[in-house]
Amino acid sequence: GKSGYDHYMLKEIHEQPTALRQGLSGRLDELSGEVTVDELDTVATPETIHFVACGTSYHAALYGVELFREAGVPAQAFLASEYATGPAPVPENGLVVGVTQSGETADTLSALREAQGRGAVTLALTNVVGSTAARECDHALYIRSGPEIGVAATKTFSSQLTALNLLAETVTDGATGSRDLVAALRDIPGDIQQVLDETTAEEIVDEYRDNESFFFIGRGLHFPVALEGALKFKEITYEHAEGFAAGELKHGPLALVTRNTPVFAIVTGDGERARKTIGNVKEVEARDAPVVAVTDGQSDVERYADHVLEIPETHPRTAPMLANVQLQLVAYHMADRLGRSIDKPRNLAKSVTVE
Ligand code: F6R
Repeated sequence: GKSGYDHYMLKEIHEQPTALRQGLSGRLDELSGEVTVDELDTVATPETIHFVACGTSYHAALYGVELFREAGVPAQAFLASEYATGPAPVPENGLVVGVTQSGETADTLSALREAQGRGAVTLALTNVVGSTAARECDHALYIRSGPEIGVAATKTFSSQLTALNLLAETVTDGATGSRDLVAALRDIPGDIQQVLDETTAEEIVDEYRDNESFFFIGRGLHFPVALEGALKFKEITYEHAEGFAAGELKHGPLALVTRNTPVFAIVTGDGERARKTIGNVKEVEARDAPVVAVTDGQSDVERYADHVLEIPETHPRTAPMLANVQLQLVAYHMADRLGRSIDKPRNLAKSVTVE
């Protein structure tokens, strides 16, 4: 059942600390700062890595790409539906990772079969033990999120991001991270709990319930979260929402920005990327767009924001997970205010088994 929550989606949002603890259990060695994942024992360090995925899982894949690139392994993410129908650019001596919560998404299975047919080593990053992807791939890495009933993927996305860190650490021999990352991963369930306990997402949505178009912007690892924030929002509120790389606004989308288009901006840390995103926030503010900053308070973005959704300070790798939880809550509470069918949005299915 829903354990007292109004919807499975809200229950599953609140299950994230537990889901991530399960996903990390026995896989982090805090003393050595090492990551050990038994399932990955026989996976060699690839020369290149491709991710294939759909929807929310594709956003996780975009995050994964960054982790591998930081470790010096050339990586690309593909929409599975494109990979399977075009001349698939399967890498030699490469690893192809299917990111699929259900392990049953037809487009992703086709892409993996195509890759396998061309001689690539395949790995399923999935939640479902014994799923088709898990059975057909050479390797499987289980994200251990527990069952997800709500059509909108929430806890499984967070579990995917966590597992992608484990994958990158393991197959690149810890080249991507450090003891800091292991400590941040250990703390992430508690940090998410803090966001859940202290969020003001429910209070801010009322002000925007009459708006019909919403934008989400972020840079670097926050770019996939901007895309995911917009997908979740459109999926369950039925309002128009789009995510952009913050720097792309001025290349077109800025034409749509008015006092009627709230912009959610993810800004953490106080580095180069934060400064540049704040520059983009100023551009939308100058067009009178309402700004909601999702921030850890390390920069002065709050000065340009109408509302702030706060997240605790953490490692740059884990900050996107916390920002995402705030955006999940924004989507949920807005959909609830609008009386939408949150757990079963119109036209959508939990598992898409047709191409
Ligand atoms: C959105 C959502 C979908 C799925 C997509 C892939 O909330 O759930 O976009 O992420 O259909 O599903 P899996 O991960 O099962 O392959």
